[in-house]
Amino acid sequence: MVTVLAIETSCDETAVAVVQDRQVCSSIVASQVDVHQEYGGVVPEVASRQHVATINQAIAQALEVSGLDWSAIDGIATTCAPGLIGALLVGLTAAKTLALAHQKPLVGVHHLEGHIYASYLAEPNLEPPFLCLLVSGGHTSLIAVRDCGNYEILGQTRDDAAGEAFDKVARLLNLSYPGGPAIDRLAAQGNAQAFSLPEGNISLPGGGSHPYDSSFSGLKTAMLRLVQKLQQDSSVLPVADLAASFQGTVARSLTRRTIACALDYGFSTIVVGGGVAANRALRDQLKLAAAKQNIQVLFPPLALCTDNAAMIGCAAAEHLSRGHTSALTLGARSRLGIEDVMQLYTTPKESDKLKQL
Ligand SMILES: Nc1ncnc2c1ncn2[C@@H]1O[C@H](COP(=O)(O)OP(=O)(O)OP(=O)(O)O)[C@@H](O)[C@H]1O
Ligand SMILES: [Mg+2]
Repeated sequence: MVTVLAIETSCDETAVAVVQDRQVCSSIVASQVDVHQEYGGVVPEVASRQHVATINQAIAQALEVSGLDWSAIDGIATTCAPGLIGALLVGLTAAKTLALAHQKPLVGVHHLEGHIYASYLAEPNLEPPFLCLLVSGGHTSLIAVRDCGNYEILGQTRDDAAGEAFDKVARLLNLSYPGGPAIDRLAAQGNAQAFSLPEGNISLPGGGSHPYDSSFSGLKTAMLRLVQKLQQDSSVLPVADLAASFQGTVARSLTRRTIACALDYGFSTIVVGGGVAANRALRDQLKLAAAKQNIQVLFPPLALCTDNAAMIGCAAAEHLSRGHTSALTLGARSRLGIEDVMQLYTTPKESDKLKQL
């Protein structure tokens, strides 16, 4: 059994968890949503300062709730890429300090690998290979998961991420930040067939469209034009119908691509991760379409869809069990493809060398 204390500060949640293999012992998430709400989005410098103010308390609380002490912790994990550089640095510095002070190995974790591992916490018997639909505030990707650390991107967005599109359209509809949950709630009272919107197909030079890549900029523009037209015709905007139609279109677009990809590559399991995995229309449509093709589809519980440190700890525990550790010289990276995740770890040979120094 591998026990890890994990830190996540890549964006606007200060999160710390203690995880044993695929089991959560404690998970503290201090959300900064209230702080950023007045700006309508995350302000990076404000996020970093807020992490500094909160992190020590979150670490102490996570350890206390777990009922464990430092002697039971096998490694210190932290998200080190991708994300807001200042925010990442707070978690990374805290993790390095703890690793040095308590003489524990450091395990840097790729944020998106964490989102994939959220599903292992919910389904401890889950094993690769499977297809992951990762839909978050910054990413929309179809990822072939072949093993821990072995990923291939099969499709991705050409412009906005799905969560970003939700946030921008919510702003257009005068809804509060973050926009995804607000649209989801409002859509429950609306008619998803009220407006016909474009699904954002990517044309290929020789004709036809890209089967797995997506685009949300056309949909966003269509929403803007529609809202402008409706505002000319009437002073009352049918916001619930607009939210339901927009959400239904995003869900249809993602479902179509995900099912096509799973069938073409022969995956019998689809795992969904990231904040947009909480969306009700996506959950309903994907479950229905997958059932028709005899494909199993797994959604993590809502608390594990958005950013948390338990998912980071789960990924770190698996890496640590395989002897993957990070050098104390590990840096934070605002960008790093998930296919390059093994760059975060020293090979056993290198770590032996470091020990000798
Ligand atoms: N029920 C929902 N329906 C649609 N979108 C949602 C829902 N709940 C959350 N979201 C969206 O999920 C996003 C946040 O997810 P997450 O925390 O995974 O993203 P992130 O960490 O900011 O981005 P990334 O993981 O790509 O770095 C926001 O854009 C939010 O609007
Ligand atoms: Mg995230």
